[in-house]
Amino acid sequence: MKILKYVTITTAFFFITFSNAQSSIKVSLMEDAEAPIVSKHIYGHFAEHLGRCIYEGLYVGEENKLIPNTAGVRNDIIEALKELDIPNLRWPGGCFADTYHWKDGVGPKEDRPTMVNRWWGGTTEDNSFGTHNFLNLCEVLGAEPYLSANVGSGTVQELIDWVQYTNHDGISPMADWRRENGREEPWKVKYWGVGNETWGCGGNMTAEYYADIYRQYATFMPGWSGETEVYRIASGASEDDYHWTETLMKNVPHELMEAVALHDYAVFDWSDKGPSVNFDEEVYFKSMEQALKMEEYVTKHIEIMDKYDPEGNVDLLVDEWGGWYDAEEEVKNGVLFQQNTIRDVMIAGTVLNTFNNHARRVKMANLAQMVNVLQAVILTDEEKMIKTPTYHVMHMYKVHHDAKLVPSTIKENPQYRGLPVLSVSASKDETGKIHISLVNIDPEKDMPVEFDIAGLGIKNIKGQLLTSDKLQDHNSFDEPEKVTPKEFKGAKLKKDKISLTIPAHSLIVLQGEYK
Ligand code: AHR
Repeated sequence: MKILKYVTITTAFFFITFSNAQSSIKVSLMEDAEAPIVSKHIYGHFAEHLGRCIYEGLYVGEENKLIPNTAGVRNDIIEALKELDIPNLRWPGGCFADTYHWKDGVGPKEDRPTMVNRWWGGTTEDNSFGTHNFLNLCEVLGAEPYLSANVGSGTVQELIDWVQYTNHDGISPMADWRRENGREEPWKVKYWGVGNETWGCGGNMTAEYYADIYRQYATFMPGWSGETEVYRIASGASEDDYHWTETLMKNVPHELMEAVALHDYAVFDWSDKGPSVNFDEEVYFKSMEQALKMEEYVTKHIEIMDKYDPEGNVDLLVDEWGGWYDAEEEVKNGVLFQQNTIRDVMIAGTVLNTFNNHARRVKMANLAQMVNVLQAVILTDEEKMIKTPTYHVMHMYKVHHDAKLVPSTIKENPQYRGLPVLSVSASKDETGKIHISLVNIDPEKDMPVEFDIAGLGIKNIKGQLLTSDKLQDHNSFDEPEKVTPKEFKGAKLKKDKISLTIPAHSLIVLQGEYK
């Protein structure tokens, strides 16, 4: 009798254990000779004259003796950004760009007029950080500048003059003025945005009207700068405004337009965006639901572009993206200032995987905004500076810069409240390394994963893990290292499989060597 009871209990135990065990999520990685290169420009950033992004953030002024700086830009920020190898930086906005008159920001500072920053708190902009400051900073960082030009309240002539000022190496009124202002050599700026959100803060235009305006501006932009070919970026759609993309692709001759933009923020309710730190599970779910829509938006905008441009001459640029929450109220001049948590790690990891996987058409993206604003990589408080969890994602993912995509397929992705839990992208670089980035958005469940890597000849796997106990965990000025990457030793390589368990709300980047 006793034996029978033992057998029954043991059987039941095994049954329960077995039936509760999560079977591995199967992911196959298959090399494809036709796969695109993941442009490093997908890892671009965005600096806007907004809140404490430029002033009291990046730029503390040439005369500042308290905070070590180079030409007024904080040295600690320069060092941190250099470690990210930031490929490009968009400036001066955003909505600010369509109120900005660049000529007010060059020449002796004491002669520069002020302006009112009408979109962002009505603060007085003294124009002390202007074109020279920005372009010289890009040089220091080794980043390509991306200038966002004023179409909403500017003129064609103003834009032509800016191109000539920054790029012309011969004798011309603008090039001569640049030399007078202390810069002999042109900066040779390639990336130019022709207006920003022209459907909204950039002029409330219809797609049809903007397409015509765009044609006019774009016509006069090339031809001023010798060998530097300008790359013209049309102000793009918001989220699922497919009509906008379709109109531009249809109405603008493709030889006038190198790229079309797209803006998409992870905002689930514009009138109540929720707190950046003290959010509950419901808000987390809604943020992730919104963040994962990037996959759908990018796919559908690309479908339209493929229809009008099957050769792929016009690129898609997601030049504003990120999580956007209610601003932290206690921060002085903290317009749109928000903290950054493990939720932001989940957003950044999944969105960047989407961009990598669509690298055939997505050639650039810009995370909004670099310092002290939305999904910032850096936060400052007077002399203090911290790196946010999103900074660490950008650092871990830089292995994908200009590497060749290795397409991945996830079989039967489990769901968290209807959302796919696992996100993956992979690439191989020219130094013989393969990298796999994976994100588990489930707030509570660890997920076993098995990669089928047949034919890739991978050896020596190692990895890094970014997570923390709670979704709300973040780095603060008192605890700046709470969320930082740790070594991950849990990946096992056996024959043609890599198996591991990715903890709940975690991001892992694996590195292997390939033959
Ligand atoms: O990133 C904040 C604002 O969001 C930008 O200025 C604008 O382009 C967008 O609406």
